Amino acid sequence: MDLLIAALQGLWFIFPAMVPNSAAVLLGGGVPIDLGRRLKDGSRILGDGKTWAGLIGGIITGISVGLIQYGAAEILDPTGVWSFDPFPSGIYAIAALACGALMGDLFGSFIKRRLGMAQGAKLPILDMYNFVAGALLLTMVVQREWVVTRFVYGAGMVSLLTILIVVPLLHRGTNIIGYRLGKKKVPW
Ligand code: CTP
Ligand code: MG
Repeated sequence: MDLLIAALQGLWFIFPAMVPNSAAVLLGGGVPIDLGRRLKDGSRILGDGKTWAGLIGGIITGISVGLIQYGAAEILDPTGVWSFDPFPSGIYAIAALACGALMGDLFGSFIKRRLGMAQGAKLPILDMYNFVAGALLLTMVVQREWVVTRFVYGAGMVSLLTILIVVPLLHRGTNIIGYRLGKKKVPW
């Protein structure tokens, strides 16, 4: 039972980092973040798949969803098991999760372009984990304790393992939905 709770906590606390990517697919398009510029290697800095609308829309959506979770936990859960932490530290964590997720996503595209890969080309491990890694790293910088108590110490390992298993599956699922909706050119 404790393991199940730890697994569900992992998904609950990483959720503000999972929303921005999906939201970026739905809200993205238009002006690319790199404004079409290339580096000396001849490839785009980030490519046409990373747009300002996706970045800003994704961050706003991720923070909004996180704030709803934050409020729900504060109001409905007297045990504190689902709490993001009291104000303001929980809010900082949510903002770092959402921003870090999309920073990880941009970093992934930057690496793909440096490898000479076209926009939308598949790079399995990087594509699956860039946003989780970015989210946890940025949150570590801002709120180290927040991350280690939830994802490293004790049952936190179970939470971390759960997200490492479930995130690629959800990522794949949402990408197929994005593809069917005509929002993505490829189903990955
Ligand atoms: N998207 C966006 N802005 C972002 C992130 C995503 O507009 N910051 C939108 C783009 O329409 C993009 C789609 O979401 O094509 C899918 O995102 P993703 O799979 O991350 O990008 P790719 O197009 O595969 O590009 P890359 O090869 O750089 O990963
Ligand atoms: Mg992609």
